[in-house]
Amino acid sequence: MFPSPQRIALVGFRGQLGRALLDALAGREILALDFPEVDMSQPAIADQIAGFGPQLVINAAAWTDVDGAEEKPDACYAVNVSGVQHLALACQRSGASLLHVSTNEVFPGEAARFYREWDATAARSGVYARSKEAAEKVVISLLAGRFYIVRTAWLYNKGGNNFNAKIIAAADKHGSLRVVADEFGNPTYAPDLAAAIVRLVESGHHGIYHFTNRGYCTRHQWAVEALRLAGRGHVPVAPISSGEWPRRTAPPPHAILLNTAGAALGITLRPWQEALAEYFETMSDE
Ligand SMILES: NC(=O)c1ccc[n+]([C@@H]2O[C@H](COP(=O)([O-])OP(=O)(O)OC[C@H]3O[C@@H](n4cnc5c(N)ncnc54)[C@H](OP(=O)(O)O)[C@@H]3O)[C@@H](O)[C@H]2O)c1
Repeated sequence: MFPSPQRIALVGFRGQLGRALLDALAGREILALDFPEVDMSQPAIADQIAGFGPQLVINAAAWTDVDGAEEKPDACYAVNVSGVQHLALACQRSGASLLHVSTNEVFPGEAARFYREWDATAARSGVYARSKEAAEKVVISLLAGRFYIVRTAWLYNKGGNNFNAKIIAAADKHGSLRVVADEFGNPTYAPDLAAAIVRLVESGHHGIYHFTNRGYCTRHQWAVEALRLAGRGHVPVAPISSGEWPRRTAPPPHAILLNTAGAALGITLRPWQEALAEYFETMSDE
């Protein structure tokens, strides 16, 4: 039986996923790190982690400002690639495994494509996507046999500046919305992802995994469901094409992840609509 890791360094504990992981890992010995006290783009983080002597390092931190990465590619790579290298080196020194969180944007997202864990990556959408793809290569090359790469998509949690929050704020401000209807993805609730990650590291089955809530939708369908659950179902939402919503980066149109490797271990996540309903229920409790 694989020994469940008890001594864990968690990087990015204040982020959407990091907060959920901190809850899901309650009761274990956690070294919780985040910016600005600790900057993973600096090599010193490896000394701090190696000094703690973890069995597992979880990287929930990243430069996640996708459009901003186009302006500051070096800063994005310093965090998302060099930072991950520092964590991998800390794992080498302490004999720890690394769980690294990646993204559906490592795939090009061609029309009608569904991506499994073993499909070849080919990031196209911009600096952020290419930095995440490069980080996967760093992890695989430095920690053969001792890494978990968990790709996820369209993440949200309470307190995050996520798509739900933006849609509700825009509906309240404008009274009607235009939302892209030709970009597809898997909305994923961070507490569900955190629970799946904990089950994975307890299993000890290293490798590459796709963890998202089950099912997929367009941004438009997500917005309509979020507004309905938030008591704003009367707000009109016009479907538009991504060409009508110019951005500095063009996200992959159809980078939908399929969970095959996790499902083989019995690790699956519930449908995205159920998770979204719980998110809005817990929001209304506060
Ligand atoms: N959000 C999504 O839709 C999505 C989709 C697919 C995959 N992912 C991946 O999932 C993971 C978690 O995403 P998330 O949405 O939870 O991210 P998040 O909420 O933006 O949190 C990221 C955390 O990393 C920290 N961080 C940034 N630069 C750092 C540095 N130099 N040193 C140490 N910490 C630093 C951030 O601190 P500051 O806030 O102070 O910068 C923040 O606390 C990331 O790997 C991301 O690439 C996210």
